[in-house]
Amino acid sequence: MQSAILITPSILSANFQNLQSEIESVEPHADWLQVDVMDGHFVPNLSFGTPAIKNLKTKLPLDIHLMVSNPADRIEEFLKLGVFNITFHAEAVPNPGEQKHLMEVIRSKGCTAGIAINPETSLDSIASITSTISNTSATPDLVLCMTVNPGFGGQKFIPDVLTKIKELRLLHPDIMIQVDGGINAETGRLCREAGANNLVAGSYIFGTDDREGAIRLLRG
Ligand code: DX5
Repeated sequence: MQSAILITPSILSANFQNLQSEIESVEPHADWLQVDVMDGHFVPNLSFGTPAIKNLKTKLPLDIHLMVSNPADRIEEFLKLGVFNITFHAEAVPNPGEQKHLMEVIRSKGCTAGIAINPETSLDSIASITSTISNTSATPDLVLCMTVNPGFGGQKFIPDVLTKIKELRLLHPDIMIQVDGGINAETGRLCREAGANNLVAGSYIFGTDDREGAIRLLRG
């Protein structure tokens, strides 16, 4: 059965002039902290890499969302930071064997491995996910069902993704399903009801002074 709901603020929408205090404002209430790494090639936007985050201090497990082409080239630098989870995109690594190998590299340092799929991408693009055999080494620790097309915060939620989330939850009752993009109290509720149990939110959390209240509403 799916576990308790995790709330993962995304620092993409935080005030970068006071990033450390922005992180401290969500730390007491959140479960993970997400860093959106964008390369200006896989997605049209450019965000930040390890130089920008290696000095951040947080008690929260760091969740790295690699919106990059050739994610294998980026893994080691994040593993060196001792991050908790690294998610790469199936669209950037379409080959099932390469997906499995990349997850092995990530897991070799005690980090969990996630695979993300964009709204238009089907579950079939993740090796093993649509097979009836669960929990093989090819099964990711989490699947990130993007609820916007990646690249920018503050976009509008794409409700069609709810069908994919429901299908994934039926196939894998115990897998972590993360959602990301346009998540607020209402869309978060829809995603929870569909089976998501890890909600990423950027503008909804960092766009208000009441971060505790926003996170509470996302938990439902
Ligand atoms: C999309 C990014 C955003 C970010 C959260 O590329 O991944 O989804 O994390 O953005 P909001 O919550 O502001 O839509």
